Amino acid sequence: MLRIKDLSFSYGKEKVLDQIDLDIFRHTTTAIIGPSGCGKTTLLYIMAGLLAFEKGEMVWSIEHQSRASRKGIILQNYGLFPWKTVENNIKLGLITQKRPKEVVQKSVDEIMERLNITEIRHKYPHQISGGQRQRAAIGRTLVLKPELLLMDEASSALDALTKETIQDLVLEIFLEQSMSMVFVTHSIEEAVFLGQNILIMEQGKIKEKIKNENVGMADHRKEASFYEKCIEVRSALERRTSC
Ligand SMILES: Nc1ncnc2c1ncn2[C@@H]1O[C@H](COP(=O)(O)OP(=O)(O)OP(=O)(O)O)[C@@H](O)[C@H]1O
Ligand SMILES: [Mg+2]
Repeated sequence: MLRIKDLSFSYGKEKVLDQIDLDIFRHTTTAIIGPSGCGKTTLLYIMAGLLAFEKGEMVWSIEHQSRASRKGIILQNYGLFPWKTVENNIKLGLITQKRPKEVVQKSVDEIMERLNITEIRHKYPHQISGGQRQRAAIGRTLVLKPELLLMDEASSALDALTKETIQDLVLEIFLEQSMSMVFVTHSIEEAVFLGQNILIMEQGKIKEKIKNENVGMADHRKEASFYEKCIEVRSALERRTSC
């Protein structure tokens, strides 16, 4: 559904992405992992159409072009509107899509319940914790049921158990819908839990692509194969030179 070929990008004179080749197929998940500053967020922004690249190609398949508005992105800094409550932040996209009022309320109530943020629905972003802000941002995007979900360290501010609950929820929604997902993470476990394809990035390049067939397996985190894959990803990251 998305093909990236020989794509490069620079901020001024600094080359940040260097000859990226990447295919994202329908209904697949892709994790991007790599050291700070290696270009992960920049690559995600390019996929979202928020930054223009100077060299290379990015081609969407026809079916996607017809539904271009169905890309959802969860940003590293959350991107919530400070003047809107949690509930109204989550509602906004559905209202913009002119969905009937009852449908909007039902979907918003359901996602807030699943993310355990119903109690803070009337609060503003500055009145809630970092983890709650992160869940509100996740809710705002998931409620739109995007065809391609792009997430930048979406669970980094969450405590260990909430993080697992959110990862379970994202996986559930992925399995329920015909969605594709590309996410940036610093967590090897998260990459292995959610990523069918794991891309190891280093200094603006994709250094290694690891296939991971464990995604969606019941009780995945308790399986030996889960830890084997974590070790494989860790070794690939350790093989890096520097960033
Ligand atoms: N707006 C900008 N202007 C100039 N340089 C930038 C800008 N944003 C990022 N950079 C530089 O581009 C490089 C890649 O940044 P990017 O944000 O893509 O990294 P990242 O892999 O997402 O890092 P992190 O894991 O810390 O979020 C870094 O060297 C960074 O300093
Ligand atoms: Mg980043």
